[in-house]
Amino acid sequence: MIPKGLTLQARIYFILNYILNGVIKLGKKVVVTGVPGVGKTTVINGAMERLAAEGVSYEPVNFGTFMFDVAKKENLVSNRDEMRKLGKDVQKRLQQAAASGIAAMSGDANIIVDTHSSVKTPTGFLAGLPEWVLRELMPDIVVLVETDPDQILMRRLGDESRTRDMEGSRAIAEHQEFNRAVAAAYAMYTGCTIKIVRNENFLLEQGIDDLVSVLR
Ligand code: AP5
Repeated sequence: MIPKGLTLQARIYFILNYILNGVIKLGKKVVVTGVPGVGKTTVINGAMERLAAEGVSYEPVNFGTFMFDVAKKENLVSNRDEMRKLGKDVQKRLQQAAASGIAAMSGDANIIVDTHSSVKTPTGFLAGLPEWVLRELMPDIVVLVETDPDQILMRRLGDESRTRDMEGSRAIAEHQEFNRAVAAAYAMYTGCTIKIVRNENFLLEQGIDDLVSVLR
């Protein structure tokens, strides 16, 4: 596709031109965020199933799992809910490792990353996608999955597989507000769009529809 015998500069020029003209298509990078227990994974799984039936494929990636694999290997934690209690600098190092691992995945595949806009740590909110993570991921879209804080509280209480932080509806509402604020910064930095997907009780299909509409 690229003529032979060109200088490196000329080859880069050709590749950029092909990308700009749609000859080479880069995959879509979509980051899905939301407070713990809002139903990110549930909505993502539903959307993947729907899209697979339409022949659209995405590689689902869980950012926390990338971090957990490294943290477990270093004997830092025994379960994923302990990670947000680690020192800020350790969490930042784990974020960096996860971001590099994800960035190393194929550039032309569509990727959907299940993660957090911000993480509630004992010393305050930690940005889930700080500059060094964004630079690696460069998302096209950041999705915020949200619902009413009372519903999130009930979902957390009903999920015995996890060690959730005990907090009330007001604290959950504040966390959702902070997530919107920090997502605005992500949009400013990368030029990505921000999509809000509601995942209400009894209306999961509507949330899935909404996510599918931006993934197609
Ligand atoms: P991760 O495992 O991603 O954390 P999480 O948010 O706690 O994930 P969950 O899977 O528990 O929540 P979910 O929102 O996916 O809800 P689910 O679909 O399961 O990350 C673990 C850790 O990694 C983090 O705590 C953090 O330390 C670290 N981490 C990750 N990214 C990071 C980053 N960028 N920077 C720093 N650290 C990072 O659903 C929950 C329940 O609700 C289920 O029972 C489900 O059946 C139910 N439900 C869902 N939808 C509905 C509905 N519409 N109606 C009724 N019930 C519903």
